[in-house]
Amino acid sequence: MIEHVDQLPDGFWDVLIDGERDPFDVGDDQTQWRAKEWHTVLYAGDRPIAHVGLTLADVEVGAHRFEVLGVGGVIVNRGYRGQGRLRPLLEAALARGLGPDRAMLFALAKNQPIYERFGFARIDAPVSAGGQDMSGQAMWKPLRGGVAWPDGPVNLPQLPF
Ligand SMILES: CC(C)(COP(=O)(O)OP(=O)(O)OC[C@H]1O[C@@H](n2cnc3c(N)ncnc32)[C@H](O)[C@@H]1OP(=O)(O)O)[C@@H](O)C(=O)NCCC(=O)NCCS
Repeated sequence: MIEHVDQLPDGFWDVLIDGERDPFDVGDDQTQWRAKEWHTVLYAGDRPIAHVGLTLADVEVGAHRFEVLGVGGVIVNRGYRGQGRLRPLLEAALARGLGPDRAMLFALAKNQPIYERFGFARIDAPVSAGGQDMSGQAMWKPLRGGVAWPDGPVNLPQLPF
């Protein structure tokens, strides 16, 4: 069952992460991330087994200013990985019709092939978010036909997601 919620229940992350150490492979990286406004959760029975977070974010690319649907906090519980659980969850999240014409996310290089499979493309230009260099991690996906990503360095005035 897939559910959309604005607020996650207490203890949600403990259950989902289930004791895994550093599931997002953060290591000693100091990047600061913003909280997400919306959450799409996949349940097995009453247990959450995967999560996609969403937020709205302003983007500047040269003279272009637009809002993206920021995707973050993407995780599948380690016991359920590699079973194709992510596609229906991500598709349900992106289909919520929250407004923007483009989705955007930040992903380590090792995860980028997965998102490419879901129609995300790498942003090759330099990218900063909240004053932090995010180059090489940013990807985007059109949420309707005929939308492009402008050329040029990308700046998000606020924190990445
Ligand atoms: C990244 C993560 C969410 C992926 O979840 P998963 O359960 O392994 O994903 P799925 O099994 O649903 O596979 C996703 C899709 O990518 C494909 N895929 C998987 N590995 C791939 C690879 N190395 N190259 C290309 N495609 C790949 C799968 O075939 C599947 O496509 P399909 O649905 O069209 O068949 C999961 O590994 C995870 O939670 N990792 C820890 C947290 C994390 O790193 N989150 C991402 C932060 S950006």
